[in-house]
Amino acid sequence: MTEKAEQETDRASKTLSRRNFIKGVITSGVAVSSAGYLFRTSSLLHGQPLPDQQSTAGVGERLITLNVNGQQRRVDAMKQETLASTLRYKLGLTGTKLGCDRAECGSCTVLLDDIPHFSCSVLTHNVRGRKILTIEGLAGADGTLHPVQQGVIDEQGFQCAFCMSGFIMTAVGYLKTNPNPTRQQLAHGLSGCLCRCQDYDKILTAMMRGAENLRGAKLG
Ligand code: FES
Ligand code: FES
Repeated sequence: MTEKAEQETDRASKTLSRRNFIKGVITSGVAVSSAGYLFRTSSLLHGQPLPDQQSTAGVGERLITLNVNGQQRRVDAMKQETLASTLRYKLGLTGTKLGCDRAECGSCTVLLDDIPHFSCSVLTHNVRGRKILTIEGLAGADGTLHPVQQGVIDEQGFQCAFCMSGFIMTAVGYLKTNPNPTRQQLAHGLSGCLCRCQDYDKILTAMMRGAENLRGAKLG
């Protein structure tokens, strides 16, 4: 055989074996198995859970009970899930807003045992056994608005109102510690909340009215 003929034969056999390999992969899933094996080896080396273990491990631990607005709510929450996500996307409590999702705007504020917290920066698993109060739990059972909510109605305090539930929850928490604040003190108490419409003066007036309503409700 000439040298050229030998090269042609060699190329043809390589093409054939490559074609056979691809055909084999499609019909038998060899490559997938190999990848799985490689992943398995690497996982074992690094002490990480295997894919099938990840999908089943800890499912029992993910089913937790939360005390939300006075009710025991059973929920499937991942370990790394934030309270804001659980409230909004698992429990349907969309009154809690997500603005920055990084503890900067206060839109996601809820009360944990009466203290305002940014729910975007709290892990759901860490609030088991705590009393969670969201904007949906503020009004009375008969639908009567909370005095701070009524203050917003009285003063027409917000423009688009995206930030409203965060301001209200923060004010409700703050007023538990200082029920009769000066305007300046309440402004300081609300300083963790941002309003994109920059309607601060009107919001503060509404919150002051809310504080007044709250004091009146307690006297009455
Ligand atoms: S969304 Fe939580 S602080 Fe902004
Ligand atoms: S009223 Fe629009 S963000 Fe505050």
